[in-house]
Order: sequence, then structure tokens, then C-alpha cells
Amino acid sequence: MDHVKETGRTAIDVALNGLYRQFFDRAEKKRRWSVRDDIPWEQTNPNLDPAIASVVESFCAVELFLPDYVRTAMSVFRSNRACAWFYANWGYEESKHSLVLGDWLLRSGQRSDEQLADLEGQLFQYEWQVPMDSAVGTLVYAMVQELATGVNYRNLRRRLDELGGDPALAKVLNLISVDEQSHHHFFLDAIRLYLEHDRAGTLRQMHRVLHSFAMPALHLLADCKQRESVIRSLGLFDEGVFIREVYEPILAALGVSRAELRRSA
Ligand SMILES: [Fe+2]
Ligand SMILES: [Fe+2]
Repeated sequence: MDHVKETGRTAIDVALNGLYRQFFDRAEKKRRWSVRDDIPWEQTNPNLDPAIASVVESFCAVELFLPDYVRTAMSVFRSNRACAWFYANWGYEESKHSLVLGDWLLRSGQRSDEQLADLEGQLFQYEWQVPMDSAVGTLVYAMVQELATGVNYRNLRRRLDELGGDPALAKVLNLISVDEQSHHHFFLDAIRLYLEHDRAGTLRQMHRVLHSFAMPALHLLADCKQRESVIRSLGLFDEGVFIREVYEPILAALGVSRAELRRSA
């Protein structure tokens, strides 16, 4: 891609900035919500299957690694205005996810303050490390992770009613799913730009990430195997869901065939 000499920015920087402004304007106009005011908190279901609370707690745990995600992103993208500003906004939105999930666990009576404090104490002993060593790899990982996270939330929302229903949790999951989908789309559009700019290099990063993907941070929990098996037994996420609802849709959206991705390796 050509360099834009007047500003000292490359064309890809200019395009990324356009993506960020579009993302930010839409978020300001359509996607702001309040933890306090937008959830029908009085409608939590105290008799919901405890398996759901275990899943919500696992999702909350993944969201609690926010300081590590933001620290990593800010150090990788410090001099990339669009990505750094994106991550500032992203951090605000993600901070609400752990707050609202924690509030649901408390208000539904499924967890006590003390239990949540124990979980946080356990988590903060560990630091999550970014699995990628390049900026494009980090964006690819984020693109995949945001979609996978959104699929987890959406699938829990789909199963919620048959598992006893909870209007408060349903609203929480709807709001978070829309946020995750928007995050995914920003990264997807960014990777589309990088594919135009350097197709072979970007495909190599995509191959690395898509063929070794794991949800971040969950493995740091002492009882991660049991948590994963609950997620699997409820049909929320497993290898099959990953292929059908993450891997294939991403390749289709980016116009990359499996054969081309394989060749890139
Ligand atoms: Fe989130
Ligand atoms: Fe997200």
C-alpha cells in the first residue's frame, strides 16, 4: 500500500482510523447501555440450574483478566493511534461485562460477595500473556477470540429459556453479545485491510491462530477442566462449534479458502 507522505501516516493507518471512527460513532449512538438501569434486576430467577451460574462465573473470570488484555494491547499498539484508541474504548466496554456478570451472580443469590472475592483473588495471582508475537497476529487473535466469546454468550442465551429462564440474565447476555459482535467486526475489517496490504503474511498469522486457538485465561483457573466440561455439556462451545461458528464464518467473510490457508503455512 502507498504511503501518505503529507501526514507521515501509511494508507493502512488512515484506513484503520476510518474504521475506528466508524466503530466509535456507532457505539456512541447505538450501543451504550447502563449496568444499573438497563437490566430488569428484579426479574432474576433464584431457582435457575446451578450449571448456568458456573458458566456465568467462568465467563466473568475470562472478562476479569481485563488489566492484562489492556496492558498487552496498549504496549503493542502504543504508536498506532486507531488501535490504541480502539482499545481504550474496548476496555471500557469490557469492564462493564465483568461488572454486569458479577452483579447477576450476586443478585440472583447464586454467589456471595465472599465467593466472588475468592475468585478474583485466585485470578489475580496469574498474568495472562498474549499468545502472539506480532501486531497483526494480535489483531487476528482478537478477531477470533471476540467471535468465539460472542458465540459462547449467544449460545447460552439460546439455551437459557429451556434451562429455566431468567429475564435479567437474558438481557445481560443480549447486551454483551452485541458488544462482542461489534468488537469482532472491527478486528475483521482491520484484518481485511491487512490482507490487501500483505496477503501472504496475514494468512500465515491467520493459520497460526486458527489452528491453535484456545479461549484466553480459562486454563489459569484451578478447576478449568470441570468448567470446560460444563460449557461443553450444555452445548455452548466445543471443537465442532468452533469450526462451524467461528473458523468457517471467518474464512468466508474474508474470502479465504481452507486450501489457501493451508498453503500459507
Ligand atoms: Fe467481553
Ligand atoms: Fe469483546
